[in-house]
Amino acid sequence: MGSFEFLNSLAILHAAQLVTLAGAKRPRVGAEMSDLAIIRDGGMRINDGKIDSVGSSDEIEKNADDAEIVDADGQVILPGFVDAHAHPVFAGDRLDDFERRTRGETYEQIAAAGGGIWSTVEKTRAASEIDLFEQAKKHASWFLKCGKTTVEAKSGYGLTGDDELKILRVIRRLNDETPLEFVPTFLGAHAIPHEDRQSPERYVDLVINEMLPRVANEKLAEFCDVFCEQGYFDIEQSREISTAAKKLGLKLRIHADQLSNSGGAKLAGELKATTADHLEKTEDQGIAAMKSGGVQPVLLPGSVYALGSTCYPRAREMIEAGLAVVIATDFNPGSSPSPSMLMMLSLACRQMKMSPAEAISASTINAAHSLGRGDKIGSLEPGKFANFSIFDCKDYRELAYWFGFSQADSIYVRGERVCSGGLRPSPKN
Ligand code: NIG
Ligand code: FE
Repeated sequence: MGSFEFLNSLAILHAAQLVTLAGAKRPRVGAEMSDLAIIRDGGMRINDGKIDSVGSSDEIEKNADDAEIVDADGQVILPGFVDAHAHPVFAGDRLDDFERRTRGETYEQIAAAGGGIWSTVEKTRAASEIDLFEQAKKHASWFLKCGKTTVEAKSGYGLTGDDELKILRVIRRLNDETPLEFVPTFLGAHAIPHEDRQSPERYVDLVINEMLPRVANEKLAEFCDVFCEQGYFDIEQSREISTAAKKLGLKLRIHADQLSNSGGAKLAGELKATTADHLEKTEDQGIAAMKSGGVQPVLLPGSVYALGSTCYPRAREMIEAGLAVVIATDFNPGSSPSPSMLMMLSLACRQMKMSPAEAISASTINAAHSLGRGDKIGSLEPGKFANFSIFDCKDYRELAYWFGFSQADSIYVRGERVCSGGLRPSPKN
């Protein structure tokens, strides 16, 4: 969003619930996740893209001066969702995999038969940077419509130096040319490419000695991620890659314990990674390791649902252990083809026993902290960017209750309305 100008003055009035998530300046844990700091009949004063004050509509209206008034008309306002785990840049789709899954084949069987991540890699390698950008721009417009204003974006469908950098440059361009903020993550260690099937060590070496230095030199990523899993990158390889990335100044995220309890969460704890993601198979030891390493768990219920599994991660135990849980979409063409945070809220509440308030903390303030942006986004507090959505409902719990469509009426980034869901046919003045 580099080229957008945000120099406005707005007074937002009459939100039935202004869900501020005001609170401690750190990720929320335990009972804090249930405290959304809601202001009834709330309002906000916004100057130059930032929140100036938050309070009752009456107070805000009194000090509105010459600000443009936006009447939220009894709807619900939330901070823009922060999607802390997504793979938005790829070519094509995985409709054939999807159909095979409907016939009962598993993710692993489909990958072994030539589908899976590898089939997306082949298409992504063949695509030009321009074509990839065009497809990713479409994904970005879906994200906005769902009420997301910040999205983490991983590479990982190139698996050569040039192709991984091509994807990271597309991510940079998305950040510059769309209203969304994209946070780039290098995921060269997403799969062993077919040309290195017989010599995986050669590929690990390439990631460490060619790709990572180029990524760091060109400042194309803030984080490094590894798919730590049997048949992908084992614990030792994941440790080597992550350690090399850390030395180059990248922060760490790890795809951990998705298909098997292979020690990924423990490794994340040992390396003091920022996040460990997935965790469907993580047990007590992994939870304890994340706690002692200060790791935030990023739970991805969309991938469990779309793979037809019922093995959801143990969100309750993680919250009870005091971990600052995050919920994200894992948007990708294979295991989680959904851009919708609202769908994730529904899954979190119905399949992972989280309350609506916990799920909202996990997809806003905690997600923002997991991306190193907890001081700028994730809650509606003075000094933060005015990134928020107005939803066509009266109670925030409706967001997780009604499912299968977006209740977003309009989305604001830095005080600018960037998207209208059009649920209310004639906009108010
Ligand atoms: O997070 N687990 C590895 N990576 C993705 C899936 C990517 C794909 O299937 O294309 C995930 O689920
Ligand atoms: Fe993923």
